[in-house]
Amino acid sequence: MAKVVKDLISLELIGLHSHIGSQILPLAGFEAAAARLVTAAVMLRDEAGIVISQLGLGGGFGISYVPADQPKDIQVIADLLVSTVLRESKLNDLIVSKISVEPGRYISGPAGITLYTVGTIKPVTIAGGQTRTYVSVDGGMSDNIRTALYGAQYTVAVVSRAPTGAPMLSRVVGKHCESGDIIVRDCYLPDDLKPGDLIAVAATGAYCRSMSSQYNGTPRPPVIAVSGGLDQVWIRRETYEDLLVLDQG
Ligand SMILES: Cc1ncc(COP(=O)(O)O)c(C=O)c1O
Repeated sequence: MAKVVKDLISLELIGLHSHIGSQILPLAGFEAAAARLVTAAVMLRDEAGIVISQLGLGGGFGISYVPADQPKDIQVIADLLVSTVLRESKLNDLIVSKISVEPGRYISGPAGITLYTVGTIKPVTIAGGQTRTYVSVDGGMSDNIRTALYGAQYTVAVVSRAPTGAPMLSRVVGKHCESGDIIVRDCYLPDDLKPGDLIAVAATGAYCRSMSSQYNGTPRPPVIAVSGGLDQVWIRRETYEDLLVLDQG
């Protein structure tokens, strides 16, 4: 493919790109990918006389959804990528003038919080005679499909008051009569939780709004920016008129 691009007068091949996946916490894969990209650039130079001067090292840097997730500081990641490219390119007399990255989730993920209002609360007996309390909210898989899609985990807390109840094994579920309509599969919420309480699900700034839907005729919630005690609507709440706007009938 690089040779094809090289021979096209309308295109100039200046760089190589890789993206190895998403929500990756160990750094070994990023280091290996950066080294391999240098190897590929050297191969193109030696075998086809193609000069590669830029490397795009992709995104995929993981963030913390639950305490077990221990993301690396972005400076540590940057240092590793730069030192890997420098080391490998020096070994092969390759000059790389620019390295770029595309962190998506790392930037937007922790910046987002989803607020839900608690509706029905229902204790259900589970295996071993334990009780898990189902906490339904005014959203669900239409605003966050990640749990249903690939078992994402989240941290959730009551935010409208300081709860005093004891930790209660809970599952936060949506309003879309679907067995997979789960937002937080396993968590502990206080046993004094009541309908009308506001709960916040953390780190929903990436791959939630962008994968949202109007399933079951559900208007999407607004996106509100909050900073320094001020708030600003960035995307307004959808209305039922919005749901019907494409209907021609
Ligand atoms: C080519 C490319 N770069 C960057 C990203 C961002 O990934 P992340 O949000 O995991 O950093 C993606 C996401 O799919 C991608 O496909």
